[in-house]
Amino acid sequence: MITPIQQKLLRQLSDGAVHSGTALGEVVGISRAAVWKQIQSLHAAGVAILPEARQGYRLPLPIHFLDRQRIEEALAPDIGGQLAGIQTLWDCDSTNSELMRQHHSGARPGTALLAEHQSAGRGRRGREWISPFGGSLYLSLLWRFPSGPMALSGLAIAVGIAAAEALMELGVEGVELKWPNDIHLQGGKLGGVLIDLEGETEGPTHVVIGIGINVEIPEQEGQRIGQPWSSLSQQLGAAPSRNRLAALLLNRLIPLLNRFEQQGLEPLLPQWEPLDLVKDRKVVLQLEGKTITGTARGIDRTGALQLEHSGVVRPYFSGDLSLRLHS
Ligand code: BTN
Repeated sequence: MITPIQQKLLRQLSDGAVHSGTALGEVVGISRAAVWKQIQSLHAAGVAILPEARQGYRLPLPIHFLDRQRIEEALAPDIGGQLAGIQTLWDCDSTNSELMRQHHSGARPGTALLAEHQSAGRGRRGREWISPFGGSLYLSLLWRFPSGPMALSGLAIAVGIAAAEALMELGVEGVELKWPNDIHLQGGKLGGVLIDLEGETEGPTHVVIGIGINVEIPEQEGQRIGQPWSSLSQQLGAAPSRNRLAALLLNRLIPLLNRFEQQGLEPLLPQWEPLDLVKDRKVVLQLEGKTITGTARGIDRTGALQLEHSGVVRPYFSGDLSLRLHS
């Protein structure tokens, strides 16, 4: 947990400039030694603050904090009314896990949750999602579908489309989606979607839709990402406002969720096609210890990958997909 004193320190450091321990202590009302202790404990919690020899401390990058009011101001007129509320947290284990807990204690569908930092960010298939403080977007939305989970197999695809369209509206060029829901930019992974769901066979189903987007990743944190990655600041030349990005995502996502509930994935397929990174390319699918090679032939209306092998096209519902570099 990031304590109120630590929050004050982080606000002082948010400009990315070097601040001396003495100056920080004066603002926060603690001694220089106590500042050092607080910075150590932030480090232990996974918030990187760089010591500058004999000068003080600085954050790896300047930060513009998440701000609920700014997000609300940038929402489209018909979207705010469909949300049950927006929360911004300094820190949590995972915005998906936190929102699922809140669902269990009565949070209403339509609740959106964002955090500056995740200490145990989760990716697909049990992987870790590297979640540096203040540098990226970690957004989760609680939603209720009247149907059972079986009807939601294409949901992750719909969410990926919404995310890609929001990024295009932000001015990002060349966004692509890698089945099922990796967001790609300039040959690296820019973001991903994680959906946790709970429901009865007959419905309703409650889902927590989590979206992570690399906005600006400090170099050191980037080295921990175990695959080629990209960030918005790399392409746009500067980090865009995460508050605006969050609003654009919600503006796109909520109408798509309503449409998906009414009509399923089928009417969204024309939106997927131009974004499909692997369409008609040779790919490798890793699935339960097996490696399946073939040519990707798009997706069907359930969201399953159509993989052609020896002239036969078969659907695949999960797995890790990569491009085959050598045929
Ligand atoms: C993937 O592996 O591609 C999915 C990554 C999803 C990351 C987001 S960040 C917000 C939400 N909270 C999490 O713990 N994970 C998702």
